[in-house]
Amino acid sequence: MLPHVLLCLIAPLLVLAGDDGGITGATSSAEAAGYSCDASKCKLPNCACASTSPPGGLSPSDVPMFVVFTADDAVQSYTLDSVNQFLAHRQNPNGCAPKMTYFTSLNFTNYTLVTDWYVAGNEIADHTMTHVGDPPKDEINGNLIALNALAGIPLTSIAGFRAPFLNYSVNTLKLLAAAGFTYDSSAAASIPVTDPGTDAFWPYTLDNGMANDCLEVEGSCKGQPVLPGFWEIPMYAFFDSAGAAGPHLMDPWLDIPSGSTKVNDTATLEYMKNTFTAHYTGNRQPIGLYTHPIHLSTTYPGVNPSNSTINMINEFLDWAQQQQNVWIVSNEQLLAWVRNPVPLSQLNDFAPLKCSTPQVDASQKICNGIPGNEDGLLSHCAFSDFPFYTCYGCPETEPTVNNPNPPQQIPDGQQARIRLPANCSTPFWDPIGGKCLCTSSQCAFNDVSRPIGPNGANLTGGGTGGAAGASASPTGQYIPFNGELFTVPPSVWAATVVGLVGAVVGAMTVV
Ligand SMILES: *[C@@H]1O[C@H](CO)[C@@H](O)[C@H](O)[C@H]1NC(C)=O
Ligand SMILES: *[C@@H]1O[C@H](CO)[C@@H](O)[C@H](O)[C@H]1NC(C)=O
Ligand SMILES: *[C@@H]1O[C@H](CO)[C@@H](O)[C@H](O)[C@H]1NC(C)=O
Ligand SMILES: *[C@@H]1O[C@H](CO)[C@@H](O)[C@H](O)[C@H]1NC(C)=O
Ligand SMILES: *[C@@H]1O[C@H](CO)[C@@H](O)[C@H](O)[C@H]1NC(C)=O
Ligand SMILES: *[C@@H]1O[C@H](CO)[C@@H](O)[C@H](O)[C@H]1NC(C)=O
Ligand SMILES: *[C@@H]1O[C@H](CO)[C@@H](O)[C@H](O)[C@H]1NC(C)=O
Repeated sequence: MLPHVLLCLIAPLLVLAGDDGGITGATSSAEAAGYSCDASKCKLPNCACASTSPPGGLSPSDVPMFVVFTADDAVQSYTLDSVNQFLAHRQNPNGCAPKMTYFTSLNFTNYTLVTDWYVAGNEIADHTMTHVGDPPKDEINGNLIALNALAGIPLTSIAGFRAPFLNYSVNTLKLLAAAGFTYDSSAAASIPVTDPGTDAFWPYTLDNGMANDCLEVEGSCKGQPVLPGFWEIPMYAFFDSAGAAGPHLMDPWLDIPSGSTKVNDTATLEYMKNTFTAHYTGNRQPIGLYTHPIHLSTTYPGVNPSNSTINMINEFLDWAQQQQNVWIVSNEQLLAWVRNPVPLSQLNDFAPLKCSTPQVDASQKICNGIPGNEDGLLSHCAFSDFPFYTCYGCPETEPTVNNPNPPQQIPDGQQARIRLPANCSTPFWDPIGGKCLCTSSQCAFNDVSRPIGPNGANLTGGGTGGAAGASASPTGQYIPFNGELFTVPPSVWAATVVGLVGAVVGAMTVV
């Protein structure tokens, strides 16, 4: 029998993940898209027309076949166990372990595991704070602030967004571009690549508006919204034996394939292979495994995924990886290649596909996202609905949309932990000693501020958290965009940030 507290945790996670992101047919058409783009004017790396052909004019035989792997929702040991059972034992053609993208929402997230996952090389992206569709600005930007403060993720590293329930609007896209995101990945590529009217476009910028989901999202397409340099990475559906009438987008293995009356792993494997092959032998548009990992966790109390489904997904990946030039990647890696599309012959030297391990001495006691180093140093934040761990000091209250970075709760006899500053990378930052272990250009890091504060104020990392209380107040020092050091008296600081964003020490204009 499960303790009551566990049951409380299970129900919400599954509810959040349920029914998230299904499509039943085409979500766009050429007519609804009304898309036009002049490729002679729109050029890489910062502009790309929506196109079914590979970027850079490459011929498909020179193009890697990318399999994007993503996970959505809260990050917990259970969800990472789930992802690990598909990826941990794999290697890409260059010998690197595959990286993936985690679209993180914060309710029920164990912050320290986000740090670990990021430091291990994965991409951390935004999925709103509390998992809401068509999100207001604070749901999107509060997630950035909390992930930066409590998981030590540099703001510039959080480049992508996926809307919960894949429910986004034109407004969502505008909010994302305004907050300095690089891409959204909520739109569906819903028509098979073998269909002449396919909407399986390579990632493209919104210089000429959207070309996907034109039948679904009001006010988009026919040239709208115009967001220069902001990317859409379509989510590529699989199609079962019903072809265009049988699309499967997220967690296809939870769906009943056309012609079956219940989940059928044999049929699912068959159509996943067929769709892969159609992409692989055609224009090599990427495909994606878009997962809610909680459904496949074998360690989460009360969840009993079928072994056959887990084995089927691994069989699919084994099969895909046996083919030439297949790479399992994060969205960030895919986009890096699209913006700079080098042919297969140069791929081994392509930096974004490489892997490196931060050189931190294993004997160092430092809370840095590397389990061996941080052992014994984590703060346990004992909130009743979901206790979590962090390297960066517990907040007095759980982060909320109205207050994503509450004041730090400092245990008796200890000092406040100092959060990741804008010029040190996560594995080298010691939040207890408040110092950067690395000063060489090899590992130094320069975060850039983002206009995610109130009234578009630019924020960068740092500080100790919170708006009130002398000991928990920020240092008041930050380096704004123009590089001039500026000191805010603590009293002014506190007055300015109360009820706003807490004390991410940023270039907030004091007025
Ligand atoms: C949270 O993280 C801590 C530290 O890594 C770990 O011991 C604990 O099992 C995790 N709990 C969950 C539910 O993720
Ligand atoms: C998420 O967390 C917030 C604040 O902790 C809480 O008010 C809200 O009910 C939670 N939402 C869900 C769906 O659990
Ligand atoms: C999208 O989310 C908004 C806000 O939660 C909700 O009002 C709306 O009904 C949702 N739309 C769809 C299509 O689910
Ligand atoms: C499952 O799918 C396979 C392959 O399409 C088919 O041969 C088999 O009859 C299906 N099984 C059930 C129970 O529907
Ligand atoms: C599923 O696989 C695990 C590990 O191989 C095994 O321990 C378990 O008994 C299997 N469950 C079923 C229902 O076959
Ligand atoms: C980062 O910035 C702080 C504050 O300006 C400075 O003291 C420190 O030396 C810098 N660290 C590195 C590694 O550049
Ligand atoms: C934030 O930075 C951007 C880019 O440098 C700049 O355009 C904008 O004016 C800044 N906003 C504020 C409030 O300083």
